[in-house]
Amino acid sequence: MAKITILVTGGNGQLGRELQMLAARHPAYNYVFTDRSTLPIEDEQQVNAFFATHRPAWCINCAAYTAVDKAESDKAAAFRINGDAPGYLAAACKKHDAKLIHISTDYVFDGNSAVPLKETDPTCPINVYGASKLAGEQKAMENNPGATVVIRTAWVYSEFGNNFVKTMIRLMKERPAINVVDDQLGSPTYAADLAAAILQIVTHPHFAPGIYHYSNEGRITWYQFALAIRERIGSTCTVNPIPSSQFPTPAKRPHYSLLDKTLIRNTYQLTIPAWETGLETCLAHIG
Ligand SMILES: NC(=O)c1ccc[n+]([C@@H]2O[C@H](COP(=O)([O-])OP(=O)(O)OC[C@H]3O[C@@H](n4cnc5c(N)ncnc54)[C@H](OP(=O)(O)O)[C@@H]3O)[C@@H](O)[C@H]2O)c1
Repeated sequence: MAKITILVTGGNGQLGRELQMLAARHPAYNYVFTDRSTLPIEDEQQVNAFFATHRPAWCINCAAYTAVDKAESDKAAAFRINGDAPGYLAAACKKHDAKLIHISTDYVFDGNSAVPLKETDPTCPINVYGASKLAGEQKAMENNPGATVVIRTAWVYSEFGNNFVKTMIRLMKERPAINVVDDQLGSPTYAADLAAAILQIVTHPHFAPGIYHYSNEGRITWYQFALAIRERIGSTCTVNPIPSSQFPTPAKRPHYSLLDKTLIRNTYQLTIPAWETGLETCLAHIG
């Protein structure tokens, strides 16, 4: 029997690269990894042509406009890629009887919660990136509600690309002291753990569409995460806690990013690693 095809958009991003690593260990599927040049997801015609040619049974959308600060002054592009494109992918999935796993973000919330955020909690983005991602998950669900899974995640890092962990390692080598915000609470997500969760959904015998939350387990601030990195790499750099007000950025960040993972854990029988485990595995890969 011919292998079913899994299309992974944004295949060279952090999550896309982790899926590439996993794919090598799961040869039961035929994977097609695309990037911005081979499949620009905001081009509806190219999306439709791609689906007609490759006939994927699954589409995992890892492509996104992820420059959170730049999005504030580049709203149209952010909305085309994060807002419209997931709708095109969902519509193409519907036409070709494929399933979509679309990745979204905790930035759809305003960060004013005091308890871990559930999938049903009211959304209220406080920056352009969050608003564009909310539009994308809504369009994807509207266009193919019966075959779309939206996974909201947060604080993603990996050995690939640019992220907090790699930035901290670099700064801790370059400087005697650094300042890190201590008033944003969340749980980091090691992209390899999220990639494994996605494959668990693909291979699970019972597909259940809908919105789900996923991050690693635990709760920390960015400052505490920086301390954990410092300890594990044996750095002597001083890490000072600062409030977000002392680190102004074009886009506001939510103060609270903790996600309640009960639904994805129960629906797809996931065992979610603690953030410490994810960090240690990632650091071992970075070497
Ligand atoms: N990173 C985080 O902290 C975080 C947190 C919450 C949710 N998320 C979500 O998680 C998902 C994966 O994020 P990530 O960290 O893996 O992001 P990433 O490393 O920035 O990767 C995104 C990929 O999408 C590609 N891309 C951008 N525009 C595209 C387009 N028009 N068509 C096709 N590909 C395009 C990018 O290519 P170029 O490099 O060429 O631009 C990049 O390879 C995204 O949906 C993101 O919104 C991320």
